[in-house]
Amino acid sequence: MSRNNAKNTTTATKSSKPSYLGLLNALSVAESAAAPVFETWAETTKDNKLKKVLRMVAMREGEHGVAFAKRMLELGYEVRRPEDPGNADALKLAASSKTDVQKLRALNFSKAPGGTDVFDSMFNDKTIDPVTGGLLGRYIAEERDTGWLLYGEYERLRAKEKATKSKTKRANSKKK
Ligand SMILES: [Fe+2]
Repeated sequence: MSRNNAKNTTTATKSSKPSYLGLLNALSVAESAAAPVFETWAETTKDNKLKKVLRMVAMREGEHGVAFAKRMLELGYEVRRPEDPGNADALKLAASSKTDVQKLRALNFSKAPGGTDVFDSMFNDKTIDPVTGGLLGRYIAEERDTGWLLYGEYERLRAKEKATKSKTKRANSKKK
């Protein structure tokens, strides 16, 4: 490709509506809806280590929601938010008296991340501008890190649960 062609492609891309606005909108909406779920859960858990992780995850989600909305504004567009953010069930689960292990399982954090994920295809769009690309890259890395952190918490809490159960069992058999 000649330098001229490359220049023309760039100009054409910049003057038209970015093809990735829908992605930015969807991410802003989803991340903003997820933040209160983790905040609510952090308030209900009695495990202090998990509480800290959940509060950090809530901050990440909320910040991603704002960062993508901000990027859309920088590009000249507003986020379109649906009337129903779609997080009612997750909020209900977060506030419930279910155990943390049950909540982690219900929200799909009970399997080790690392395989194919929803983020793999996000850079298929080759017109993503550098600022959006930087933001998107950080977002993806943070989401994957969150997946690992919560999976780690699942493993830790499940081991804790097992230890408590066998302790109770031993105590009960001594009583007999
Ligand atoms: Fe997220």
